[in-house]
Amino acid sequence: MLWIKNYVKRIQLSQWILFAVCLITGVTAAVIGISDNIPGILLLVVSISCAFGIWVWGWHNPRKFWILLGAALLSFPVGVVLHNLFYALGTLASEYKILAGALGFIEVLFFIIAVLFAGPAALTALIGGIITSWKGVRGIAETNRSYRRFIQSHEISSQLLERLIYLARISASSANLQPLKYILSNTEEKNQKIFPTLSWAGYLKEWSGPVEGEKPSAYIILLGDLSLCNSFQYDAGIACQSILLGAAERGLGGCLIGSIKKEKLRESLLIPEGYEILLVIALGKPGEKVVIENLAPDGDIKYWRDEKDIHHVPKRGLGELILDL
Ligand SMILES: Cc1cc2nc3c(=O)[nH]c(=O)nc-3n(C[C@H](O)[C@H](O)[C@H](O)COP(=O)(O)O)c2cc1C
Repeated sequence: MLWIKNYVKRIQLSQWILFAVCLITGVTAAVIGISDNIPGILLLVVSISCAFGIWVWGWHNPRKFWILLGAALLSFPVGVVLHNLFYALGTLASEYKILAGALGFIEVLFFIIAVLFAGPAALTALIGGIITSWKGVRGIAETNRSYRRFIQSHEISSQLLERLIYLARISASSANLQPLKYILSNTEEKNQKIFPTLSWAGYLKEWSGPVEGEKPSAYIILLGDLSLCNSFQYDAGIACQSILLGAAERGLGGCLIGSIKKEKLRESLLIPEGYEILLVIALGKPGEKVVIENLAPDGDIKYWRDEKDIHHVPKRGLGELILDL
């Protein structure tokens, strides 16, 4: 139930607007009819396009849109061919009522795919693909916020975690020493060992961290290999950012945790003394809304949550960051 609550909370105003347009155009199309009625068909296409828009709203990866575009473009000829095929088969089997009925049903299904899926899906994919490609790194950096409440039931595969480590692997490293090592966790058992060692959102005094159902699905623990060097912070920061940007691109979110009960974590996971525990990245499907905003006139940098449970992160303005020296 918690995930449904969190899901609804994450639905943005623009998605509600799309939902309203989808509903109004869909109902109007049904009322005026779509059979040989161009305005009715157009309204239905708009309605379905809006439904696709709601579905893809959180996508930040242009690749996903291009895949959808490919699927949409392919579905048209495939749908037309199969529609005609099942129509012909239905005609041949007209004596057998049940079989003819089933074939007729499949025929209509492929008609719907060819006519009603292909167009709206292609349109949505094209618009989404262009927008996300246009936004580029900036779009992903804006999405890459610190999320602390997740949809815990969303699983993150070991393969995906390894793909994120690949991004860290190819990142910059001081003197190219590459002294970072990683522990990956995406099982209930291992996650339970890590979670109690982490401290969440120091500024939110009334909130003691994510509850069951909104805990992270996976963790990446960053270690510094003391046999290679003894200063890791720059490398760790760069590696974390690469990992988090990769996660954001895949529709996931995370939070860097520096406030760790390190000895407890070392004992729980039997981490050898030769590795310094640096940071933990908590990962999951975000279950909260996080927005960035300009610093208020009082200059307070503390993040906060409003009555709708939206997490606000004040950021200093560019004018304050760039020194005119
Ligand atoms: C090195 C580092 C350590 C952090 N440690 C914690 C932590 O222990 N607990 C936590 O809840 N957030 C932690 N954060 C997340 C910051 O609180 C967060 O980045 C900041 O509030 C800005 O929010 P944003 O990431 O959405 O821009 C850490 C961030 C960094 C860079």
